[in-house]
Amino acid sequence: MSEQAWWSNQDFWRKCAIFVTAFMFVVLILLTFHSLAAISSGTDRVPAYSVINHRIDYRFDEARNMKVPVIGEEAPLFGKVLSEDEARELVDLGKLTVQAKNCMNCHTLLGNGAYYAPDLTKAWLDPGWGNEQARELLMTMFLKDPKTNARTYGTNRRMPDLDITDEEVRGIIAFLKWMSAVDTNGFPQGFEPLPQGGS
Ligand code: HEC
Repeated sequence: MSEQAWWSNQDFWRKCAIFVTAFMFVVLILLTFHSLAAISSGTDRVPAYSVINHRIDYRFDEARNMKVPVIGEEAPLFGKVLSEDEARELVDLGKLTVQAKNCMNCHTLLGNGAYYAPDLTKAWLDPGWGNEQARELLMTMFLKDPKTNARTYGTNRRMPDLDITDEEVRGIIAFLKWMSAVDTNGFPQGFEPLPQGGS
């Protein structure tokens, strides 16, 4: 019988495979918890839902070499300050509506979706809304009736009427406002926020 080198021993490799699989399984679980903590609302980069009660602006951060969100003074959405729970409910309704109506078929949100239509990640701050005062009304009118209120920006692309109820529209706007306050590491590139509050 010939002497077998340790590295050609089947049993050795079987144990290695079991060990590596078990080890990576533990790493995966740890990473999952780490990611969940990093993307939960009320953390460094992802604000609490009640951020919709405030003005959201951006300023250039020298150290990070990019624009970062600044949560400003009180500027309640639809003129009503909401508690954290009420704000979460409204943002949730918006998020569920965006999922149910499949907005991602045409739009991108936080890097997911399509580029047929404008990126919605910072749509709340799109200078196209004209000014801070008109924005809520213009967004509401657009979402209720995107054909009549088409903006198109010379693309000739139209958003279809998606039969969104008044409450869903408010939810979507709350969701878009909250999302605009998420620190997305400078994404989308070169984005310019709507001038607000004399800034
Ligand atoms: C079939 C494609 C399509 C779907 C689905 C769609 N949109 Fe749009 N959307 C567009 C197009 C095209 C535009 C740009 C044309 C315009 O502004 O008139 C647009 C523009 C917008 C804008 C204006 C963005 C800006 O900054 O100018 C918002 C907000 C918006 N859509 C929200 C939504 C939401 C919310 C949903 C889902 C409920 C949705 N869209 C589903 C095609 C779509």
